Amino acid sequence: MSFPSLTRKLWGTEFVSPVMLASGTSGFGEELFKLGCLTGAGAVVSKAVTLKPRSGNPPPRLLETPFGLLNSIGLANPGAQHVLEHILPAVSNLPCPLVINVAGESVQEFADVISVLKESAVHIGYEINVSCPNVAEGGAAFGVDPEVVFRVSEAVSQVADRPFSVKLTPNGGDMVQAAVAAQKGGASAVTVCNTFLGMKIDWKTGKSVIKRKVAGYTSPALLPLVVARVWQVSNAVSVPVISSGGVSCGQDVLQLLAAGAEMVQVGTRLMRRPCAAGELLDEMKKLTGEQ
Ligand code: FUM
Repeated sequence: MSFPSLTRKLWGTEFVSPVMLASGTSGFGEELFKLGCLTGAGAVVSKAVTLKPRSGNPPPRLLETPFGLLNSIGLANPGAQHVLEHILPAVSNLPCPLVINVAGESVQEFADVISVLKESAVHIGYEINVSCPNVAEGGAAFGVDPEVVFRVSEAVSQVADRPFSVKLTPNGGDMVQAAVAAQKGGASAVTVCNTFLGMKIDWKTGKSVIKRKVAGYTSPALLPLVVARVWQVSNAVSVPVISSGGVSCGQDVLQLLAAGAEMVQVGTRLMRRPCAAGELLDEMKKLTGEQ
């Protein structure tokens, strides 16, 4: 069998690698760049940006578990205008493309954030986050309803002057239908998928350890769940599928490419291995024989 090339082309842009750094795991890439850890990264996906600044959820909002990480950050960010004026100019020299993750509480907010950010030439596109589990009560995400996904995608495609991927939720609803709706609304890709709802309860107190109770869970153990969803979605849409979740080694990335992903995001692994992108690329080159 011939293996997919490790250099990728998406949205007319060349990427040195299929590995993207997942939203929320490396800010806007500046710190990892200074550490020399963006070598081998195909692209950086930024932390979510909303229209107004958000301080996020009260702590504790991050918890390491034996096999993964629970997060309930709550979309903490300084707001679109601050990102435009102060953060994007500081990352204009990243060695790889930047994609901005955009979140909102209404269909209109997604479009409004993009209207602000489109003044910058620094980023190549957007990831539309209709799937954060840490904002609405009980972890329900916007993107459970394909009709809402369609409306968000349509609103974004009317204002965006760059391609965008819609990041889908695995928590309820039918992800395949949501992906089809995103494509119908004008999305240029779909990201499969956001975090899985998780929780840790202290049995002595009976209370959740994470202040806001349910959180988003990430873990290498989720790989088979992500592979199945990437396979299902990529068989249902014609736009590229970007996977997110479950990656801990080069074989995992290759498996996700074989399942139908065009690009593969790595997130939690960066907490232990900040230079994971280059390590994964080196591993894959050895495995496939590509130079
Ligand atoms: O809580 C957070 O900021 C997480 C966002 C997300 O999972 O999209």
